[in-house]
Amino acid sequence: MSLNNRVAIVTGAARGIGAATALKLGSAGAKVAVVDIDMPPAEEVVGNIQADGGDAKAFYCDVSKPAECEQLVRDVVAHFGRLDVLVNNAAICPRISVEDMTEERFDQMININLKSVFFLTRASAEAMKPNNYGRIVNVSSTGGRIGGLVNATVYGATKAGILAMTKSFARHYAPWKILVNAVAPGAVDTRLMALGEDFRRVVEESSPLKRLADPSEIANAIVFFCTEDASWTTGATLDVNGGVLMM
Ligand SMILES: NC(=O)c1ccc[n+]([C@@H]2O[C@H](COP(=O)([O-])OP(=O)(O)OC[C@H]3O[C@@H](n4cnc5c(N)ncnc54)[C@H](O)[C@@H]3O)[C@@H](O)[C@H]2O)c1
Repeated sequence: MSLNNRVAIVTGAARGIGAATALKLGSAGAKVAVVDIDMPPAEEVVGNIQADGGDAKAFYCDVSKPAECEQLVRDVVAHFGRLDVLVNNAAICPRISVEDMTEERFDQMININLKSVFFLTRASAEAMKPNNYGRIVNVSSTGGRIGGLVNATVYGATKAGILAMTKSFARHYAPWKILVNAVAPGAVDTRLMALGEDFRRVVEESSPLKRLADPSEIANAIVFFCTEDASWTTGATLDVNGGVLMM
């Protein structure tokens, strides 16, 4: 599945699923914009892609700010010459109970996890329209399917919102052959899923495969939707959850 000369933006690419996706896109031949607010690990990801013979550059962008999203797209197109692929991956999942949730933390989660997807998708699609080609992949969650578990009510709502937006954008951008799909991971071994040992064991035991996913196993699914081979799928959600939830 070659991505030769395609240009890809991956948000939240300094670590976890985003970093794994950026690395795989780079080794498939894409030029990768490694986007994050945490620059030292983002630069490391760029170094790893370059060491593998690929082309990448780190870009600072707080995806919760629409003006920064629009500037990011301008900067990426100025640097790499075009834009073909967007992976909306950046998110936060602070574990806050219903009782402890504040308006400030509620808005922060909506802005980083959901508002970002709308504004970065719109800015990116404008750059893709003239080429009549595009691939957009939104990272949702099993929490978006069933309602977030363990103090993740608002997080789950943002991830459900992403599924609705994916379908709506898929219809809206189809005339320009810009395909929009989602991947809904189950529990993945990353910083975001930092759980106590006891809870981790419960999560592992409840999974038919009896383990958390490695970030690369989610990246494999994301990268498929980024390729030219994924030409007849739009508005779809691929559940990659080790069999925890069978739709
Ligand atoms: N880890 C899991 O179990 C799991 C399960 C389901 C879905 N997901 C989803 O996968 C995606 C990646 O999660 P992860 O587990 O790799 O998380 P992670 O915490 O390891 O990485 C997230 C990255 O996003 C960046 N980020 C945070 N806020 C940002 C902002 N405002 N602007 C730009 N970048 C920002 C962080 O700096 C970090 O590098 C998220 O959308 C998450 O909801 C994760």
